[in-house]
Amino acid sequence: MKDADLKGRGGAAFPAGVKWGFVAGTTPADGQRVVVANGDEGDPGSYIDKHLMERRPHLVLEGMALAAFTVGAQRGFVFVRSEYPDSLPALRRAVAEARAAGLLGANVLGSGLSFDIEIHEGAGSYVVGEETALLASLRGLRGTVSARPPFPAARGWHGRPTLVHNIETLANVPFIAAHGASAYRALSPGATPGTKLVCLNQRFVTPGLYEVSFGTSLRTICDGLGGGLKDGHTLKALQVGGPLGGILPASLLDTPLDFAPLAEHGCMVGHGSIVAFDETTDMRALARHLMKFGADESCGKCFPCRVGLRRGEELLDRPGPVDRAKLEALLETLELGSLCAHGDGLPAPIRSLVEHFPHELELV
Ligand SMILES: Cc1cc2nc3c(=O)[nH]c(=O)nc-3n(C[C@H](O)[C@H](O)[C@H](O)COP(=O)(O)O)c2cc1C
Ligand code: SF4
Repeated sequence: MKDADLKGRGGAAFPAGVKWGFVAGTTPADGQRVVVANGDEGDPGSYIDKHLMERRPHLVLEGMALAAFTVGAQRGFVFVRSEYPDSLPALRRAVAEARAAGLLGANVLGSGLSFDIEIHEGAGSYVVGEETALLASLRGLRGTVSARPPFPAARGWHGRPTLVHNIETLANVPFIAAHGASAYRALSPGATPGTKLVCLNQRFVTPGLYEVSFGTSLRTICDGLGGGLKDGHTLKALQVGGPLGGILPASLLDTPLDFAPLAEHGCMVGHGSIVAFDETTDMRALARHLMKFGADESCGKCFPCRVGLRRGEELLDRPGPVDRAKLEALLETLELGSLCAHGDGLPAPIRSLVEHFPHELELV
């Protein structure tokens, strides 16, 4: 796994092999380790995990079982977003099939090892996708974020070393186990090994889910796969990687889909959603919408996010020019003072709008 250099697909791109090493290297008091598949997928415009959970559930379960075998876990959970009612039966059916085949449960395939998986339905919250909030919710507590450290790899579900992975990350594992690290690395001409699932929103001529190699240019994805925009509209900007991702103007469409090139422009791969905005989009309304989304979804644990995002929404909502210094101070407070990437990530798209569309934001 370390040689394959599989990067976590949940947004932070943390190397999976390193995380497995942390979990395997922590000795739990009761000998129990846990694997959790994060299927909370709340990014607007993202339906990658939904597709995998509903159409390729065995790939996800196999990735979990391989992870459990490697780190020494006996128990697994898939946390499924409550807005995905079809994912639950698909996963439950797949778990029953795997149990019947002796691939899950006690003494898997006569190996003496045991690993079983429970499917858990979420309760409807964006921030519960964050791993500490997800683990709280999984225990029946309120889904709010906790300070890290301790990281879940050391103290997670009920204090046990817990491997939390995104669904797509886990779906990559069976290929690596079957074909080896070099075959996996060879899938990508870009700096990051492997492929990425991306999904294009309804503004494209052919919206949908596509699998691309890292390093593929956004132009190839948007014009080649997506067929450009519908009804003769022209592309104004893209938001890649969810609501915490920066906004890339159409002039930068030749940027490759990879972590470093996107970061150069204040953007990220994130979870892989690609949302197009056309020439009719009002960028100030978009900035306000993002602040409102952030404020509505804030878990309320820390005040820069709980109060700041609402103030940001008000600042952009008030008719007339926007005070640039006030907005800047607010963004800085969010970045420096927020407890998790919800509050410290939301300034990124606002900063891109300030940089690329200052006139539309009416900054003074
Ligand atoms: C506000 C917020 C929401 C998140 N939502 C998700 C999510 O829906 N799915 C996900 O896999 N990770 C989400 N994450 C990231 C998780 O905290 C965690 O990093 C991830 O599940 C680890 O998996 P990975 O190593 O496979 O990327 C979110 C993080 C934050 C701060
Ligand atoms: S940044 Fe927002 S979502 Fe994250 S802990 Fe603070 S209040 Fe909760």
